[in-house]
Amino acid sequence: MSFPWAKHYTPTHPFMQWMDEKLPLPRLVYNSVGSGYPVPRNLNYFWNFGFLAMACLMLQIVTGIVLAMHYAANQAVAFTSVEHIMRDVNWGWMLRYAHANGASAFFVVIYIHIFRGLFYGSYKAPREMVWLLGVVIFLLMMATAFMGYVLPWGQMSFWGAKVITGLFGAFPVVGEGIQQWLLGGFAPDNAALNRFFSLHYLLPFVIVGVVVLHIWALHIPGSNNPTGVEVKSESDTVPFFPYYIAKDGWFIGAAALVYCVFVFFMPNALGHPDNYIPANSMSTPALIVPEWYFWPFYAILRAFTSDFFIIPAKLMGVLAMFSAILVWFFLPWLDRSPVRSSAYRPLYRKFFWFGLIPAVLLLGYCGGAHAAEPYLMLSQIGAFYYFAHFLIILPIVSAIERPDPLPFSITEAVLGSDDNALLGTAEGSPHDTPAPAA
Ligand code: HEM
Repeated sequence: MSFPWAKHYTPTHPFMQWMDEKLPLPRLVYNSVGSGYPVPRNLNYFWNFGFLAMACLMLQIVTGIVLAMHYAANQAVAFTSVEHIMRDVNWGWMLRYAHANGASAFFVVIYIHIFRGLFYGSYKAPREMVWLLGVVIFLLMMATAFMGYVLPWGQMSFWGAKVITGLFGAFPVVGEGIQQWLLGGFAPDNAALNRFFSLHYLLPFVIVGVVVLHIWALHIPGSNNPTGVEVKSESDTVPFFPYYIAKDGWFIGAAALVYCVFVFFMPNALGHPDNYIPANSMSTPALIVPEWYFWPFYAILRAFTSDFFIIPAKLMGVLAMFSAILVWFFLPWLDRSPVRSSAYRPLYRKFFWFGLIPAVLLLGYCGGAHAAEPYLMLSQIGAFYYFAHFLIILPIVSAIERPDPLPFSITEAVLGSDDNALLGTAEGSPHDTPAPAA
């Protein structure tokens, strides 16, 4: 969105004027993350997680490229090449721990980023495209993380690859063909390891491309904010530079401290000890679990324990697991409330905090546990609520709920009053629908 009060880039130095004529890159930066980009003045710390996600992506790419210089994608030596990185390569242990814990940090940040969007209705018009591209990014992240975990060729790498690619075998007729095509053979071995390495290197750059589109799509309407009320006048905004650059900067520093505690003091806390055992196709681990960030989806997969007429339980589990993410694509149209932010949606807010969040945490807990009772039953309860939340509760609540009255503007929400409201001078946004009168 180009707000009429946005500052204009006017280079004064002859070199910058020349540059502006030939390749206006500084202008692009000025208008996207500089003084020329007005942003709502009331963004809370949850709005720092997008920037933090970009930092995580960069960290993963830089550490990953250096790791790839020493890693060998060959079944015979993959495990020992990782040990070589840990023991012989200068700072190799730090690089590896930074990359492995960086993946976890990335998912923590992204889950907060997603749930922020869910709570404040950032997926709703006019930001549907930002959200849809975000879901694509999330799917790409999951594929990248899964393939990365296979590379050390430990027990969990091997058996994880076997279980996950085996899921495709559940599809009738074409399933086995897809599974063999993915693996390049009948079981995970050298062919699978090679293609996973190749794709694990490629996909982060695809993610960078989709992130560029994500930010581009965001800059058209501009950021949402905790009130969900669109920007109406200059007093609702502050320039991105210096305000949010400073806030994002210090927040990244604070987050980096927490991350360093993991990298330097408890680097294996989030990993599985079995992955320090070389892959052995003749010895199945007692418990095959993916990394923690897949647990909620893994629990949904395992929640289906009996066949439904001709549909095998395994196929239903696979379909439900993929649907758990695909359902996000439809959120902008499932939620019909005219009010974006749950801060003004008293009923929906309760389902969010006391329904969705506990259900996801429960699924996460069960996904990391043994596939036995009571975890299976708890997974079924969690999965049932999860789908009911998006497909039944959200549409119904959004249609019947009586939202709290919205502030006139962001300025009024922050300062308690807005001169524009009194004068009636501010232009309303076409996307703003006032709450019904109390
Ligand atoms: C590599 C991953 C990602 C990066 C680097 C990224 C980056 C960003 C950035 C920098 C912003 C603006 C700052 C902010 O609002 O926090 C943003 C906004 C947004 N992102 Fe992402 N994002 C990623 C993944 C996702 C995912 C997975 C989703 C949802 C499934 C998503 C949904 C959104 C939405 C809806 C907004 C607009 C928020 C608002 O204005 O309220 N993003 N993203």
